[in-house]
Amino acid sequence: MKYNAAEVGEIEIGTCKIVNIDGRSIGIYYDGENYHAIRNVCPHEQAELCKGHFSGTTLTSKPHEYIYGMEGEILVCPWHGWEFNVKTGESLVDPDRYRVKVYDVSVEEDRIVVHI
Ligand code: FES
Repeated sequence: MKYNAAEVGEIEIGTCKIVNIDGRSIGIYYDGENYHAIRNVCPHEQAELCKGHFSGTTLTSKPHEYIYGMEGEILVCPWHGWEFNVKTGESLVDPDRYRVKVYDVSVEEDRIVVHI
C-alpha cells in the first residue's frame, strides 16, 4: 500500500516529520538527497524515537585513530541515547538484535509516498 506522507519541500534537510499512517507512527527524514521512513518507536523502552536528534558516528578505524562519518544518518533516541542507522533501522551497538522498521519511500508528483 502507498500513502501520501508529505509534500516535497515540506521537510527541511536534516529534519524529520512524524506522520500517522494506518495506525503507525512513522518519521520521514530528509537527508538532502533522499527521504527515509522509519518507525517512530524505539525497541528499548518504546520512546518516540523520531523526536531524537540526528548525528554521525565514529567509523571503523585502526587503534587510536578516530574517523567521524555518516553525519546526519544516525538517529539518537531522546530517552537513553541508543543510536540507529536511519537508512537501515539497525542499532549501532547490536544490529542483529535491535532494529527499527524502515519503509521504502518514493517521490511521485511532488508527493512523498511511503510504501507499507
Ligand atoms: S527508549 Fe530509546 S534508548 Fe531507551
